[in-house]
Amino acid sequence: MPARIIKSGTTMDFPGRFIVLLVTAAVFAPGESVYPIGNVFKPEATPAESIYNVSLLMLAICAAIFLVVGGLLLFTIVRFRRHKMDNSREPAQIYGSNRIEIAWTVIPVLIVIVLSMATARAVVEVQNKRMPPDALKATVVGHQWWWEIRYPELGIVTADELHVPQSTLAKPAHTFLKLQSADVAHSFWVPQLSGKVDLIPGITNSMWLDPRRTGIYLGNCAEYCGTQHANMLIRVIVDSPADFEKWAASQKVNASSDPHLEAARAAFLSLNCINCHTVSGTAAAGTFGPDLSHVMSRTTLGAGVLPNTAENLRAWVRDPQAIKRGNLMPNMQLNSRELDQVVTYLASLK
Ligand code: CUA
Repeated sequence: MPARIIKSGTTMDFPGRFIVLLVTAAVFAPGESVYPIGNVFKPEATPAESIYNVSLLMLAICAAIFLVVGGLLLFTIVRFRRHKMDNSREPAQIYGSNRIEIAWTVIPVLIVIVLSMATARAVVEVQNKRMPPDALKATVVGHQWWWEIRYPELGIVTADELHVPQSTLAKPAHTFLKLQSADVAHSFWVPQLSGKVDLIPGITNSMWLDPRRTGIYLGNCAEYCGTQHANMLIRVIVDSPADFEKWAASQKVNASSDPHLEAARAAFLSLNCINCHTVSGTAAAGTFGPDLSHVMSRTTLGAGVLPNTAENLRAWVRDPQAIKRGNLMPNMQLNSRELDQVVTYLASLK
């Protein structure tokens, strides 16, 4: 992807998205959010909360400025409007009021200083966080158009759904992410948990999360990265500590090897699928596409474009291009017997 396209995409992307987000968030802030990627005004982790606090201060100061300036303008328009009795002479022109000039220089400077200090404090809070020794470490790699997720210390590789433990007062739990890219620039953004951090080829960025409530937090790639940028969705699944342990244990074991599915497995392993995909404990060890060892434990297919059901899985394997045009998985032109076997095998990978 040429840099020029990425750049123009970004500049076009930002104001529109921001306005939609701001308006939606403002309208729906009191109730349940309908915006699919989560409400920035309902932070559920410390980094998101720091950003939220700064944004409230900014909004309050900007609202005050708006009211003062708008109020004065309105007052002037009404008070000094044209009267019937006015003659056509120009009113007295007044130049050079030191008091007014000092006021309109000093007050904005003070406001800018306050806003800069508040922003700097939030940036330091978010970026200078020391990693606690017991923090969970994960690496997120952006791909066109999905998220590879690795837990190096747990030996887990998965995709598109980042499981993290809930953080409580009694037992704080931090997840520290390393963010990398396999191709072009992407950006990891789950609004209720943290700000955006870019995934840049050749650079490792980082972020951390300490979500307080269990649940699913939706996010999206926030840096234009090609045709399916909008369908590069991320889910952060916050588990209770016990559920997280259970999930991690189930992901660590090799993929299921049900003896009844020997024929289906053999069919899968004989096809080109294995050049791009890994299924742990088998000869399939490709790393170009998402790891499929426990594909059915995930809730969506194609990075959030389809619910992960056997039916959708079949449609996806038959022709991924019909569902997510431009994605890097080709139509493998499987005949219906091969398709049955591949889908039967994949559906067993819980
Ligand atoms: Cu990845 Cu936009």
